Amino acid sequence: MRSYYCGELNESHVGEEVTLQGWVHRRRDHGGVIFLDVRDREGLAQVVFDPDTQKSFAIAESVRSEFVLEIRGRVRLRPEGTANEDMSTGKVEVLGQDLIILNTANTPPMQLDEYAEVGEEVRLHYRYLDLRRPEMQARLRLRSKVANTIRIFLDKEGFVDVETPLLTRATPEGARDYLVPSRTHPGQFFALPQSPQLFKQVLMASGMDRYYQIAKCFRDEDLRADRQPEFTQIDVETSFMNEEEIMFVMEALIRHVFKVHMELELGEFSRLTHAEAMQRFGTDKPDLRIDLELVDIAPLMKDVEFKVFSGPANDPDSRVAALRVPGGVSLSRKLIDEYTEFVGIYGAKGLAWIKVNDLGTGFAGLQSPIIKFIGEQTTTAMISQLGAQTGDILFFGADKTKVVNEALGALRLKVAADLDLVNEKWAPLWVVDFPMFEQGADGDLTALHHPFTAPACDIETLRSNPTMALSRAYDMVLNGTELGGGSVRINQSAMQQAVFEVLGIGEEEAQEKFGFLLEALSYGCPPHGGIAFGFDRLIMLLTNAHSIRDVIAFPKTQTAACLLTDAPGTVSNSQLRELNIRLREKTSQAQAN
Ligand code: AMO
Ligand code: AMP
Repeated sequence: MRSYYCGELNESHVGEEVTLQGWVHRRRDHGGVIFLDVRDREGLAQVVFDPDTQKSFAIAESVRSEFVLEIRGRVRLRPEGTANEDMSTGKVEVLGQDLIILNTANTPPMQLDEYAEVGEEVRLHYRYLDLRRPEMQARLRLRSKVANTIRIFLDKEGFVDVETPLLTRATPEGARDYLVPSRTHPGQFFALPQSPQLFKQVLMASGMDRYYQIAKCFRDEDLRADRQPEFTQIDVETSFMNEEEIMFVMEALIRHVFKVHMELELGEFSRLTHAEAMQRFGTDKPDLRIDLELVDIAPLMKDVEFKVFSGPANDPDSRVAALRVPGGVSLSRKLIDEYTEFVGIYGAKGLAWIKVNDLGTGFAGLQSPIIKFIGEQTTTAMISQLGAQTGDILFFGADKTKVVNEALGALRLKVAADLDLVNEKWAPLWVVDFPMFEQGADGDLTALHHPFTAPACDIETLRSNPTMALSRAYDMVLNGTELGGGSVRINQSAMQQAVFEVLGIGEEEAQEKFGFLLEALSYGCPPHGGIAFGFDRLIMLLTNAHSIRDVIAFPKTQTAACLLTDAPGTVSNSQLRELNIRLREKTSQAQAN
């Protein structure tokens, strides 16, 4: 057995005989002496073999990268001038005596001994090699420790860890379901849970009072850098608490995690209403590290000749907004063209701009393709409304409100990154007062959170004016990432039925899909509410990782596949028969026919 992890050795061990076990990180031949950097989970130790220990020296000569070794030797100080300050074990080395090769290794397809740019496909295929890298080890270990901190915190607060089923019914969280065919019920399917939402509510009806679970969730949706088809939530539900009380405890939880693991006191959590967040930042998950804001200028633009602005300025579903960027005059034409293309992704038909070269010279000090259409008077009034200064660039969006919000909201992030306008701090906030429903282009309403969220109004008001109804939901946002979301729930079946009705879910469908919930509500279900945090996203923020895949041991690719195991895979005909499933011909074959 090892006496120490490699990475634990220090000057206090000088003179001791030690046994180390680990991987060959690097091997160097130095004029008759062989240096092996041996790596284990805690770090690296330098082991030296000289020709005096003939047998071990010969073995040391034969080892290669990633061979697994056991070494016995004596710890000594490194000679004067050869200490390595960058290594925690850099003051000492082990003079190797015995060396056993526990296993050999093929030449690794990626280098582990220095930071090398490796394609993600290679990393995911050889995930066990990728995970040997110290930074990946550190991320997974932090993940484990944070989970532990969260469990201890929630346990102290009286939350009980209850497991809920993975083979279940569809839960409407807005994504497609992963389905599992049932063998014993031919033609029927389980759905993997998009979240434990309904079970945690039923647990409240069961008198559990406070529940939590570090829960796997499954959503078949378009993947992005912060989304996985299979991800983990810190899922919480509590009875007899209102939104303020729930937010208070959950904020305390996140503060505690930052204090323990980042040694950081998170400052004040800002509070924004959904409407204000959209107005000022164009998004419901604003990154408050950036001081740029969207400002409405429609009132000034109602009568200008420039139809691009006056059209939307007179349409209640549209918006004309400006984004003032200090220091933006330095942006090149080429970059502005790139930004114009960028906002096009969100449906913007253009990106008007004004450079304020010299405020002192008035209209003449401005440079812009649009001011001639707006006129000097209106331009001057606008410049003054925006508080523009010499050196600023002003960007404009004029279109349907959704387009302007998305385009300028995204541009705000991009310009801030390009011009280094992102403050080095943590900017947590709560977004509250969400609308209950979102209206699609077809006029149909969908729940903005989920259909079990309580409205902030009574049944009559909800029915008479659903698009104006606000919900008792709240999101926690950190540095522009939606970290968690929750709400006070509906605990009365009449209200739940009213919401289903507004959503166009008929009585029969409601009974079929959620009858068990409606029934549970009608047997004395207490007032309750909760939240779920994206655990992977939390770890991503704590480790400053660029991709959610870097904080998950075995993640899926952008096309929702596992490159290590090659899942999903085909199954045998007999398995399909057992499940009563017959596959359709491949689409390509069908098209050929
Ligand atoms: P929601 O759908 O907002 O709420 O999810 C809660 C949090 O889970 C994280 N998250 C994801 N993380 C990684 N990959 C994904 N595909 C993904 N989807 C969501 C986000 C998000 O804030 N049942 C409700 C919670 C409740 O009301 O209590 C729910 O699931 O960080
Ligand atoms: P145009 O008259 O279409 O050539 O546009 C004049 C300027 O307005 C150009 O800089 C365009 O990029 C910009 N522009 C066009 N449409 C919009 C829009 N919907 N919102 C903001 N700027 C726009």
